[in-house]
Amino acid sequence: MDLREAIYSRRAVREYTAEPVDEKTLRSLIDAAIQAPSAVNQQPWSFCVVRDKAVLAKISREAKAHMVRSSPVGLMSHHFEQILNDPKFHIFYHAPALIVISSTAAIPWAVEDCSLAAENLMLAARAAGLGTCWIGFAQAWLGTPDGKAAIQLPAAYVPVAPIIVGYPKSAPPPVPRKEPEIRWIGK
Ligand SMILES: Cc1cc2nc3c(=O)[nH]c(=O)nc-3n(C[C@H](O)[C@H](O)[C@H](O)COP(=O)(O)O)c2cc1C
Repeated sequence: MDLREAIYSRRAVREYTAEPVDEKTLRSLIDAAIQAPSAVNQQPWSFCVVRDKAVLAKISREAKAHMVRSSPVGLMSHHFEQILNDPKFHIFYHAPALIVISSTAAIPWAVEDCSLAAENLMLAARAAGLGTCWIGFAQAWLGTPDGKAAIQLPAAYVPVAPIIVGYPKSAPPPVPRKEPEIRWIGK
């Protein structure tokens, strides 16, 4: 698959088959991720691969409860409130693997660096026939001391991009994009 096809056909995948993703494949996604540029070439990223279903279920439960607890009253959308209070809603959609990209140092641009690694990872996954979805719902709880302990993250690291990975059950339809706002200065 060429780059253009990977960019244009990548979708947030929310339905996965039960097929596990093998270690070699996951490792190749991480290798693609670390080809991303980083400010002053600091490469301030770390990867945690979670495939233990019990741990994934625990993170899902705790992250939902954390979001409900910490959202200011009245500010959460009705839809979010409904799904976060639904015990059957699994924030990782039962994907077989979660890769959490975390920043390793409180240096400028560490979040941008990790996000660039995340996009590389998602495009490489698409090219390998895998689906991914960045799960922002997981981020806040993973950043708590309990969350860091659950994925064995050193206290100074900060989770930036929790990305689920698996084989898609079906190809999600394209999601329309708004017209970009562009200002051309000079020519
Ligand atoms: C920072 C970030 C957080 C996201 N968090 C979630 C999430 O918690 N749950 C989810 O189902 N999708 C999540 N998504 C996926 C977006 O909803 C999705 O990318 C968007 O709707 C556009 O669809 P597409 O990726 O198929 O183009 C997140 C995406 C980003 C970039």
